[in-house]
Amino acid sequence: MAILKRLISKKLKLRLLKVLPLIGIYIKNICEDRVILEKIIFPHFINKHDCQKVIFIGVGWYTMEYNKLFNKKEFWTIDIEPKFKIYGSKRHIIDSMENMDSYFKKNSIDLIICNGVFSYAVKDSKILERTLKVCYDLIRKGGVFLIGWNDLPEYKSISFETCENIKLFKPFVFEPFGAQRKLANPNNCHTYSFYTK
Ligand SMILES: C[S@@+](CC[C@H](N)C(=O)[O-])C[C@H]1O[C@@H](n2cnc3c(N)ncnc32)[C@H](O)[C@@H]1O
Repeated sequence: MAILKRLISKKLKLRLLKVLPLIGIYIKNICEDRVILEKIIFPHFINKHDCQKVIFIGVGWYTMEYNKLFNKKEFWTIDIEPKFKIYGSKRHIIDSMENMDSYFKKNSIDLIICNGVFSYAVKDSKILERTLKVCYDLIRKGGVFLIGWNDLPEYKSISFETCENIKLFKPFVFEPFGAQRKLANPNNCHTYSFYTK
């Protein structure tokens, strides 16, 4: 009975987590890497005048607040899963990221944020290669491509780092870290890697 009760409350909690953001109540994910993303990385780009057109790849209930954080920007979201549209921005695209070139002009994007999608959700090297090329084409000269990924041995075989098209980019030193990459969570090895064109 106690287990059933715990299960029900867990289910209810999960449902609430997914529903509350829809009415403007955001529950903070206090994972170290998420805190770094929201408290250091986002404010840096939000305060930059030359960062106006942003694409955020992959959405969820816990990213819904980002639509508000970036509301002074032209903030686009994209997710392959149609049912996640409710968590996307008012400029949301339902499609796979490797097709982003159908929606944007070349050299028109200031920042692309691809957090938790490579390796974890995309396990096809052809899609990975094509996505990297598309991102490279879309980003303007001096724009930034941010990849958030888990630097774990099980993802090594399909890592973007071994892709040919990552070589198109130049490493970008993110000023607040004084580095091109940052291990943001030692528990899951979540890492932020910064690139530019
Ligand atoms: C782990 S979530 C990451 C969400 C968010 N970007 C974040 O910061 O946590 C992965 C998301 O990527 C989406 N996704 C997976 N493959 C994709 C693709 N090829 N194109 C666009 N979105 C994709 C999934 O539907 C899911 O919503």
